[in-house]
Amino acid sequence: MITTIQPKQADSAQIRPIMPTGVDCGAGLTKVCMDSGERQMRIRTSSKVLELKAPLLEDLTSKEGGHFFYRSGDRTDLIDREFLTGELAAWKAPTTHVKLSDDPALKAEYVLHTLFGALSTLPHRQEWHLFLVISTHSRKLFNDRLKELTNGSHIVSLGGKNKPQTRVNITVGSVAPEGAGSYTYAKRLNLIDSSAHAIAFDFGTSTVIPQVFSPGGKLIYHQPLETGGCIDLLEAIASDAELIRFLGTGKAGSIELVRKGIESGQFNYGTRDFNLRPIYARLIKTWLADRLRLGLKATEEWRDAAQSFVAWGGGTEMSGISRMLSTQKITTVPDGCWANAIGLQTIASALLARRI
Ligand SMILES: Nc1ncnc2c1ncn2[C@@H]1O[C@H](COP(=O)(O)OP(=O)(O)OP(=O)(O)O)[C@@H](O)[C@H]1O
Ligand SMILES: [Mg+2]
Repeated sequence: MITTIQPKQADSAQIRPIMPTGVDCGAGLTKVCMDSGERQMRIRTSSKVLELKAPLLEDLTSKEGGHFFYRSGDRTDLIDREFLTGELAAWKAPTTHVKLSDDPALKAEYVLHTLFGALSTLPHRQEWHLFLVISTHSRKLFNDRLKELTNGSHIVSLGGKNKPQTRVNITVGSVAPEGAGSYTYAKRLNLIDSSAHAIAFDFGTSTVIPQVFSPGGKLIYHQPLETGGCIDLLEAIASDAELIRFLGTGKAGSIELVRKGIESGQFNYGTRDFNLRPIYARLIKTWLADRLRLGLKATEEWRDAAQSFVAWGGGTEMSGISRMLSTQKITTVPDGCWANAIGLQTIASALLARRI
């Protein structure tokens, strides 16, 4: 496969069909970043999967979720099985779909599913050739498993069983430690001085992870905090007494609606006449201060040697976070949610170029 690549100067999707691709399968959101030679494609879906045991009544489509039927290929265990991913899984089975946030091991098991789901949001192609760099929080545990479950040739119908088939050829170029992609991205933006130590904080869905990189960029410390990530804040808002009183059912609100309200920047709770901003403003400072205090303590022994202090992860995109971090001299990278996937794609491009 690799030998068919054309020289870089004649770059185009048709004649250079192997796409360097970064895959960041987060506990909450799967981010896929692909380089088609002409432009960068970014696909984001929630990290949810549902196996369909009966045909759908009608086709479902969403930019944030996918649908595929596995016809044949190297994953023989998936043959003749059909799945929804992301938002579509949550639409169809709100309570029984698999959430990758439930168990870290699920990420390795379902990364191929979420990747097919992501591809199904794109226009049909007969063939994809992907050269992947995937991140994992434990290479020791998941390196071999991730490769074994993902590598190979897969014939699928993206969008559902009755759709034309697509061959997806996948080579896993490397399994990178969590944070390597974000480091590469931040370095390219000159936000990290790689001649000295760098301290980073990854504000994710399930976790907040302080990370320390050596001069030259090797990961030397990576330990999720005991407290959770954005999900703790979303849960606290969803179960705030003010919202519960408004909803009038005695039950907490929907975490998904809270997430969407925050991400939109409008803070609306779904279509209801309730604005989450006052609750958010009340809770956000303590949420951040607690995590920052623990994160700074965990990385204390490297602080004096470090030259760069940065933050990434989707949580840094929440309103006010970057401003609050800057008061502690921590720089937030732009597009924090995408930082890792974009950097992984950069690593994939470099690895692929070396193989040509
Ligand atoms: N544009 C945005 N505005 C506000 N919040 C955002 C934005 N994008 C992402 N987020 C928030 O960031 C969080 C997801 O972050 P991220 O994608 O880094 O987590 P993850 O990688 O899925 O989780 P983990 O790192 O714990 O495995 C979600 O709570 C989401 O609401
Ligand atoms: Mg993450």
